[in-house]
Order: sequence, then C-alpha cells, then structure tokens
Amino acid sequence: MPDTILILNGPNLNLLGTREPDVYGAATLADIEASCRAHAAKVGVDVDFRQSNVEGELVTWVQQAQNTAVAIVINAAAYTHTSVALHDALKATGLPVVELHLSNVYKRESFRHKSFISSVADGVMCGFGAHGYVMAIDAAKQFAAARASTT
Ligand code: DQA
Repeated sequence: MPDTILILNGPNLNLLGTREPDVYGAATLADIEASCRAHAAKVGVDVDFRQSNVEGELVTWVQQAQNTAVAIVINAAAYTHTSVALHDALKATGLPVVELHLSNVYKRESFRHKSFISSVADGVMCGFGAHGYVMAIDAAKQFAAARASTT
C-alpha cells in the first residue's frame, strides 16, 4: 500500500474558481484535487484530499491523520491566521507538516502575515497558485522519507 499524504483545505476554498480569481486563480478545488491525484500516482503516493468550512472538523481530521497518513499538507485558509486549535492539533500529531497558500500572503493585507500554522510546519509555501499543491506533495513526501529514515 502506498503511503498517504493528507491534503487539508480550510474555509471558502470550496469556492475556488469563482472566488476572487485574480487572487486565487481559475482552477476549482476539484481541478486541484485531480492534479494532486495525477501527480501522486506518478510519484507513488496516495492522497486523502479534504475540505471543510468547519474548524473542528479540520482539527478532527488532523488528529485522525496520526494513524492514516505519513505527512500533512494544509491550506488552512483564514484559519491560518486565527486557529490555536489547528496549531495544537498539528503539533500533537508529530507528523511532517507543509503549510500551503495559493496566494503570496506576504504581499497582501498585514492580517495575513500572522500564521498559527508556520511554527508547527516543517515547510511553508505560498504564492505558487494551484501548482503549489503539486510542489507540496513532493515536499511532504521528502519530509516523510526523511522522518522514516531516522525512526
Ligand atoms: C489562502 C490565504 C488566506 O489568507 C485566505 O484566508 C484564504 C486562502 C491562500 O490559499 O492563499 O482563504 O490560504
């Protein structure tokens, strides 16, 4: 069985394609999921791709990943800037974490410069648009392999 990378998407990312396309691009979340699945198949991993507008649901999925995934890629969307609960859950899993954003949050409003995820992430990626998801799979796979070789 190939290793699974959990890819989590937070609030409003279900609206991709129609939501501020000048900022987030034209791809829908389904398009992004399809490109993640295609890339994952190429590099020999499985992806568990999820989206929720509910903070607690994201927290539960992070907790469950401890038993089902080798790494987490998370675009926590607006919860990035507010959620101590997601910070704590990610820290508790002990899994490698890649924080991801479609847009370059540092080029945007100052409230987007604060992240509760970055300090528990192994790597942070932003500004690469939908392609960032494909890049994040490679990064997560590498972090997981590095972790496995030391345990
Ligand atoms: C986002 C950036 C966040 O600031 C914002 O709240 C989002 C999306 C991104 O992917 O660029 O919803 O995470």
